Amino acid sequence: MTDDFDGELGFEPAVPATGAEPSAAARGPQRRPTLRRKLAAAAVLTGALGAMGGSYAAFAASSGAANQPSSAQQIAEGRQLFENSCITCHGANLQGVVGRGPTLLGVGGAAAYFQVSTGRMPLAQQGPEANRKPPMFTEAQTEALAAYVQSVGGGTAAPTGNLRGSSADIAVGGDLFRLNCASCHGVTFKGAPLSAGKYAPSLYPSTDKQMYTAMLTGPESMPVFSDNQITPDQKKAIIAYVQNIKASKDPGGEGIGRIGPVSEAVVIWVAGVGALMIAILWIGAKSQ
Ligand code: HEC
Ligand code: HEC
Repeated sequence: MTDDFDGELGFEPAVPATGAEPSAAARGPQRRPTLRRKLAAAAVLTGALGAMGGSYAAFAASSGAANQPSSAQQIAEGRQLFENSCITCHGANLQGVVGRGPTLLGVGGAAAYFQVSTGRMPLAQQGPEANRKPPMFTEAQTEALAAYVQSVGGGTAAPTGNLRGSSADIAVGGDLFRLNCASCHGVTFKGAPLSAGKYAPSLYPSTDKQMYTAMLTGPESMPVFSDNQITPDQKKAIIAYVQNIKASKDPGGEGIGRIGPVSEAVVIWVAGVGALMIAILWIGAKSQ
């Protein structure tokens, strides 16, 4: 459940607007733009706009970082996974094992989600810092482990739902990022070394939920950004900013320069309209 809300952003429900296209019969030679036809077109357009607004409202309403209650079955599955893969270092009751791993009482599902989904846990080798690795568990298993850790020890639960702000939040997200995150992760998100063999990692592989849980839990030398310091909406704005810049830097085509969070479609559109204008002027000049 990482980026699957992208589909929701596609405004699929607006497609019925194509129903406004006149039928083959209507396009016939006897076609006359009557008042009735104009009214019908206006009604279809109004309906389509309404549907778009409605779908947006539904999407926005479901976009809070709400926490769904975990089912007993999910917790039981998480317990099984924990006993197989985590118990040797974190103990049967999450109390920790001396010399192997810290207690997980109170760290919460958010920390478990972050650590397991980024492959940092189960820990492969002791070092200055746990490294990101390909995750050992599926998304569902990771959520089950998080639910189990949450159910036993309490703490901050893993967030659910849409965790990315809208394009309107990108600018404020950029300001928050430069203020709170860039000192360690760099203005280009590439990461940087810290002291004593530690480092702030690149943010390129991070999903929305990993970014959100990183801020909530402050893994290792990263500070915790509580909801009092950076509100849920501000966290979502930071995520919108980072993910937008990441996407625009890997467009799979020619770069258009660092002109900020402007989608290439806009540039293509502007260039296209410019070309059209030149063509019109040229035709106009020739016909005189
Ligand atoms: C080989 C030992 C080892 C195994 C196995 C292991 N861990 Fe850990 N874990 C550690 C150590 C050591 C730390 C603390 C240092 C660090 O984060 O690098 C840690 C940290 C954590 C943290 C962060 C705690 C905090 O205070 O924020 C979580 C959450 C966690 N582990 C969950 C798990 C889960 C879930 C599993 C099983 C899928 C697991 N670990 C398996 C050794 C282990
Ligand atoms: C003091 C330095 C520091 C600051 C400030 C900081 N981080 Fe981090 N961040 C780290 C370190 C160190 C890690 C690696 C922790 C680990 O390996 O367990 C990290 C990890 C992360 C990750 C996980 C990357 C991955 O592997 O997917 C994300 C996402 C992240 N930080 C986002 C942020 C955001 C967003 C902010 C600002 C709100 C921020 N960080 C501020 C030091 C910092």
